[in-house]
Amino acid sequence: MGNYVCSQCRGPAVFRMRHHRLAFCQPHYLEWFIEQTARVIEKYHMFAPTDRILVAVSGGKDSLALWDVLWRLGYQADGLYINLGISSQEGDYSNESQRYAKDFAGQNGLRLHVVDILQQYGESIPQFASRSQRGRIKPCGVCGLVKRHVMNRVARDEGYDVLTTAHNLDDEAAVLMSNTMAWQVDLLQRQYPVLPAEDGFVRKAKPFCRFYERETAAYSLLRGIEYEEEECPFSVGSKQLVYKDMLNKMEETTPGIKMNFYAGFLNARSAGYFSPQNKADNEQSRELHRCPTCGQPTASDGACAFCRLVKAA
Ligand code: AMP
Ligand code: FES
Ligand code: ZN
Ligand code: ZN
Repeated sequence: MGNYVCSQCRGPAVFRMRHHRLAFCQPHYLEWFIEQTARVIEKYHMFAPTDRILVAVSGGKDSLALWDVLWRLGYQADGLYINLGISSQEGDYSNESQRYAKDFAGQNGLRLHVVDILQQYGESIPQFASRSQRGRIKPCGVCGLVKRHVMNRVARDEGYDVLTTAHNLDDEAAVLMSNTMAWQVDLLQRQYPVLPAEDGFVRKAKPFCRFYERETAAYSLLRGIEYEEEECPFSVGSKQLVYKDMLNKMEETTPGIKMNFYAGFLNARSAGYFSPQNKADNEQSRELHRCPTCGQPTASDGACAFCRLVKAA
């Protein structure tokens, strides 16, 4: 790492963050990263020390790092892995990811819930998608619907206070760009590091939302966490990745631009720029009912989109 020295102990640095003007040796980076996570949890009032936390783990670097940091901070944090039944030419993507999540839980004495979509609902995500989308190849939309439903169901059935996901700054900035390009104000209103429990939805929090992806990757590597390196085979060419590439190019010439884009949005949102004009407007735009089949909230009059998908299987 050139001639950089650790900002804490002046020893040789192994990781440098230009936008923060900081560099660290291994132990001080791990310490810094945990402290920063604790600060974000506090800043956004995400959860209290006594809350029971469900961590959605995909077996990748971000979510295993999140689980690792939360248990080290002393939180009661259990994992949830959703096996989507996806495989690729390189291998058995979902089963391999599950193995990483299980091994991590076993090594650290943590509890992991596993929901296998094929076993529980009779079809894998690619099967659901090929039937419901009339030939469209990418199952990402169906996958998102199923993941959101299962995460909320497990969190509520098992009595967790909060569901955490490992979305990082790169994810949040890409979603922000996508929502802004289309001026989807309703989605901008709902993009925030923590969303309170309401209308049958469990509280949701994203404690890594202010970390660059390379920072979460560095944490996993320097901690020695073993994780699934392969990306979901369906993510290739997705709109999210296009926005991520664009933002990475901008970051190369202007370090910190991604953080400024996201943090600036959060400030504007807190100042009320994306608030509905009045409460009635907001309630009308999101009038929710209970799904008669599963009891989860839905905007449709009859069964929710998830139950309609499963029923047709
Ligand atoms: P993605 O939707 O793939 O961008 O992932 C966003 C977040 O959702 C990850 O950081 C995880 O916390 C969670 N997640 C993604 N895939 C799974 C999965 N198969 N099982 C449980 N949680 C997941
Ligand atoms: Fe759901 Fe790729 S993870 S389609
Ligand atoms: Zn140091
Ligand atoms: Zn339903």
